[in-house]
Amino acid sequence: MKNFLTIAVSKGRIYKDTLPLLAQAGIEPLDKDPEASRKLILDTNIPDVKLIIIRTSDVPTFVEYGAADVGIAGKDVLMEYDGDGLYEPLDLNIACCKLMVAGFPNKAGNEQKRRLRVATKYVASTQRYYANLGQQVEIIKLYGSMELAPIVGLADVIVDLVDTGNTLKANGLVPLESIAAISSRLIVNKASMKIKHQRVQALIDRLTKAVEQAPRS
Ligand code: ATP
Ligand code: PRP
Repeated sequence: MKNFLTIAVSKGRIYKDTLPLLAQAGIEPLDKDPEASRKLILDTNIPDVKLIIIRTSDVPTFVEYGAADVGIAGKDVLMEYDGDGLYEPLDLNIACCKLMVAGFPNKAGNEQKRRLRVATKYVASTQRYYANLGQQVEIIKLYGSMELAPIVGLADVIVDLVDTGNTLKANGLVPLESIAAISSRLIVNKASMKIKHQRVQALIDRLTKAVEQAPRS
């Protein structure tokens, strides 16, 4: 894929929100529905530009190692990623939500004698957040359905993404504390930024314009 410009995107929400921005930047996949086609490499209307479809948490890894030149990943994923081989030149202002502490109303667990138990898939961000508060907590790593943890007594609170708040509400939970505003970012491999500078910079410029012109979410 050396002579191609490869863009790593994850299926689902980010892919759906990225398509209009890419289209405005002049890039359109020939196959619009990777879920249906099961294809992992998508050709585009520009012969030397390809999209690769990967799990959202793998996007920074592919980009850092140069397996993709650029990628699109949520800030939540980037905050968990332990690497330093990436540029993050653009906030795409898509897939916007908040990383929050949530739990039962009036019950942050502060009165109890043992450490607060926090269930999350965002271990690094959670660790940093409570370390900054000077609070020692017990973090329980989960891979999904975090909302269940307080209900079944696995944890006192959760740290998860909140958008409409509907998922919390449906499970009798409320947002308690805000940790960070989340949106998806364009990330760029450091070597690609040098070696493919013209093409990468043109993509950044076009996406910047597309973001400016996008309807406000
Ligand atoms: P995986 O592919 O590993 O299952 P995922 O389930 O987190 O990952 P998505 O649900 O598509 O994948 O989320 C992708 C990104 O979209 C997240 O990393 C986050 O930045 C953002 N996001 C997640 N949930 C919401 C939401 N409810 N509203 C807005 N943005 C969200
Ligand atoms: C995310 C997140 C919350 C939900 C919040 O889940 O993990 O459960 O969205 O959104 P809301 O505040 O609008 O209800 P997602 O929909 O991505 O499901 P998944 O993590 O199980 O894939």
